[in-house]
Amino acid sequence: MGERRQDKLLGIRTVGIREWTGSKIQYNRYEATPYKALKILCENYKFRAIDKVVDFGCGRGRVVFYLHHHFHLPITGIEANCKTYEEALENKAIYRLRAKHITAPIKFKYGLAQHYKIDKKDNCFYFFNPFSINIFRKVVNNILRSAEKDRRTVDLILYYPIREYKEFLKTSTPFTIINKIRVPGGSDEREKFIIYRLKEEVFNTDDCINY
Ligand SMILES: C[S@@+](CC[C@H](N)C(=O)[O-])C[C@H]1O[C@@H](n2cnc3c(N)ncnc32)[C@H](O)[C@@H]1O
Repeated sequence: MGERRQDKLLGIRTVGIREWTGSKIQYNRYEATPYKALKILCENYKFRAIDKVVDFGCGRGRVVFYLHHHFHLPITGIEANCKTYEEALENKAIYRLRAKHITAPIKFKYGLAQHYKIDKKDNCFYFFNPFSINIFRKVVNNILRSAEKDRRTVDLILYYPIREYKEFLKTSTPFTIINKIRVPGGSDEREKFIIYRLKEEVFNTDDCINY
């Protein structure tokens, strides 16, 4: 099924690309995670209704609506592009008319991912290459501090992961890879998800964790 058809089923419009204008070189353009990739992710990763998901750089909200629709979970999208954020809100208005029965909240926040105050219940974080490694580092450090303060296991889901993100997580954080999910039919090696987990127990050791 085409991307537009799938959008229509959810009552949203997420197809297309939006480049940043001016000097926003640290911010990547808008482009949605393909539906076929989301389907594979959901077949291989167990989202639970008690999870609280955050999509950093949520764009027009495709991932937000898709996961909410399928798993009825609370989800927040953070978006720094004003126009794109407005489009996510327009999508929410239409989507909500059809999804009245799903009580889990959907929230969109306009602003920078690195300024988002991680909620103590947020435990699953989605990234489709939204920004530079410098910003990714800041966001992951915010997640780590939050997970240490309010002890909990947290997962990161990376779609189309770039080398710099992987290297940073491997060398500078206690996250470990728990799964790699390839998107079938993709010719590009990077067309996959990598799931990283930080177990609550990691904070119980006497070792000093620097981040
Ligand atoms: C590749 S798109 C991913 C969209 C969505 N997560 C998805 O997978 O369908 C990346 C998005 O991140 C946004 N973005 C870039 N830098 C950002 C920042 N510092 N804070 C929040 N959003 C940002 C862009 O405007 C864009 O909409």
